[in-house]
Amino acid sequence: MSDDEKERTVELHHEGGTLELPVFTGTEGERTIELKPLLGSTGMTTLDPGFGNTASCSSKITYIDGDAGILRYRGYPIQDLAVGSTFVEVAYLLIYGELPEPGKLKEFSDKLRENADIPNDMGTLIDALPRNGHPMALMSSMTNTLAGYYEDSTDPGDEEQIELATIRLMAKLPTIAARIYRNSIGEAPIAPDPSLDYVENFVRMTFGDGRVDGELGELFHKAVDLLLILHADHELNCSTATVRVVGSSKADIFASIASGISALSGPSHGGANQAVLEMLEDIRNSGVSVEDYLERVKNREVRLMGFGHRVYKNFDPRSKEIKELAGQILDRHDNPEELFELALKLEAAALKDPYFTDRKLYPNVDFFTGVIYRAMGFPTNMFTVLFTLGRLPGWIAHYREQLHDPAFRIARPRQHYVGSAERRYPGQG
Ligand code: MLT
Repeated sequence: MSDDEKERTVELHHEGGTLELPVFTGTEGERTIELKPLLGSTGMTTLDPGFGNTASCSSKITYIDGDAGILRYRGYPIQDLAVGSTFVEVAYLLIYGELPEPGKLKEFSDKLRENADIPNDMGTLIDALPRNGHPMALMSSMTNTLAGYYEDSTDPGDEEQIELATIRLMAKLPTIAARIYRNSIGEAPIAPDPSLDYVENFVRMTFGDGRVDGELGELFHKAVDLLLILHADHELNCSTATVRVVGSSKADIFASIASGISALSGPSHGGANQAVLEMLEDIRNSGVSVEDYLERVKNREVRLMGFGHRVYKNFDPRSKEIKELAGQILDRHDNPEELFELALKLEAAALKDPYFTDRKLYPNVDFFTGVIYRAMGFPTNMFTVLFTLGRLPGWIAHYREQLHDPAFRIARPRQHYVGSAERRYPGQG
């Protein structure tokens, strides 16, 4: 952090005296106290479970104002990117810091097309994986394995290798995801087609030709593209923080991203979109009314999935976009998704109930995502894989940014020890 960003100090009064701690002001006026001198000067650490109050790095990638419902990538509002850009452009923006000029975009897109295939051995390996295994577990393993296939792009100290790994990850993860899916349903893999764009190619490798054609097909591609954009980064969420922590040990980018995928698989993080759909199915199958379900939530008998967010204390700006998209998809779909109706009813009932609004529990990014994916034909356990493909450029951008951070150190939190004091070992006097 530069000295110009340092504005003032705060004083910490403690038993041993007073410590002045520097305060830094970010681009949007948010202020951060630097705690680095604390331990050395006072012997004290800070306790912040879940890091709710801790900025672990400075970053230029994504800005969120949770109270105002603002989300920007590299300064651009998410709503503008959603309307004006494709996912590949947004990925470029996150990774390289600027929206691409047409020539740069073509170069980047071409590299993604050219690198979409995976080694034959790796294909065989995927086909040998347990068919019923959760695709997130398989995605994480296969991403880790990429380091073995592409050892020439594993050195975090070599810019060219990082660039090569960036392209390989972006290009190959959709191919791996689609092949894992095809294997799970016992269907032959479909090779990438370099004439197709990024999202079209992924959808075709997943479902084959002709599942949805014409206008509806276009709408589906646009919808997947938009959902990937909306998921592309979210500053220091659990999986991105994981990528940074693992990367801070100088682990290669494949291992770091594989760890991020594992973190994302949890139902409290990326797995929540699957959990929402399962909740909606439970409500439908049990025949309980949404009002009764909400009563059961209040009695802590069941959980309301897809509501509330650690950072947003108002609407998640992504959920508004996604709700609109769900409306468009489901209006046009031959087989309208009844779970969408149920989701709308549940949302309306929760937003009328002060129990939820007082607790600032509003729908988040996961609430409507699942119903859209379901309407398109993605099985429930693939939802978090789609989140993975969306979040990938964000993880890569954070891994790369960290490598150039002058304050870069291996992540090594401290603990507040509350275990036994020294004890006598049994049998010793
Ligand atoms: C995300 O997009 O990663 C989720 O909303 C979770 C988070 O930001 O903490």
